[in-house]
Amino acid sequence: MDTAATSRSRWGQLLQSIKVRVAYRASIFAAAVSFFSLYYRNLIGYYLQNVRLSHPGSFLNSFRMMRLVYKVRGYTAVFVPRLVALYKLSEEINQRSLPGDIVECGVYNGGSAAIMASHCDRSPVNRNVWLFDSFEGLPKPTDKDGDEAPAYEGWCHGDLSKVKKVLRKLRILESRIRIIKGWFQDTFPSVQIRDIAILHIDADWYESVKLCLEKFYDSVQPGGYIVLDDYGDWEGCRIATDEFLKKRALDVKLIQVDYTGYYFQKPQN
Ligand SMILES: C[S@@+](CC[C@H](N)C(=O)[O-])C[C@H]1O[C@@H](n2cnc3c(N)ncnc32)[C@H](O)[C@@H]1O
Repeated sequence: MDTAATSRSRWGQLLQSIKVRVAYRASIFAAAVSFFSLYYRNLIGYYLQNVRLSHPGSFLNSFRMMRLVYKVRGYTAVFVPRLVALYKLSEEINQRSLPGDIVECGVYNGGSAAIMASHCDRSPVNRNVWLFDSFEGLPKPTDKDGDEAPAYEGWCHGDLSKVKKVLRKLRILESRIRIIKGWFQDTFPSVQIRDIAILHIDADWYESVKLCLEKFYDSVQPGGYIVLDDYGDWEGCRIATDEFLKKRALDVKLIQVDYTGYYFQKPQN
């Protein structure tokens, strides 16, 4: 090849690599813009859904709710509809003065926990918040979790310092918080919680969800809530929950929050 042809082909390669890089960055930018515009549309949508013209106080309350959801945005893998549901359930147990603590199994970086904990200071009853996580990511799944699950082993590797940071950001009293680090099977046996008002299970896999239900269901107050973040999305969570309900002959109404989040109220007897 002559010198002119070599230099033309080098220019061609350079231009091609620039084009690929520009296209790559543009697609990331477009994805980020569409994600954030969806996120903000979601926030505004939930704000509007929760205001009532006949209740002027609802403008402020809804604003407070969305501000909290916004503040925890970098600390959670839980989407807006489920954070809003946790906010409302936490508010409702306060309005009913339902005794009991808040328990979260599956904390990651603390975002959903902070939403629930932010209600404790305004509670008419004394509530503590228990947070259980390995802070080592998701454990190995089993066959019950489905074909896609193995790819997620080790995901959601939470960071304890971020949990503390988001709790401080929301000015939550440290004395209310109990963080129990370790695998559920190792930490649960040495913990006793007498009364639970909300049990939030966000641990994805069959074995983890089963352990949480078996350990804590009996301590949930009648009228309290069991929230299952992964019932719709992960079959292991669904199987563990359905098996538990069947074994205990519990006739409960599962309420759907979004494509994956569900909750139910513990029956009176
Ligand atoms: C989806 S993340 C939790 C998300 C969190 N609620 C939030 O606000 O982003 C699932 C968490 O469950 C924890 N986890 C799952 N199974 C566990 C087990 N058997 N023992 C301890 N932690 C577990 C993982 O470490 C991970 O942090």
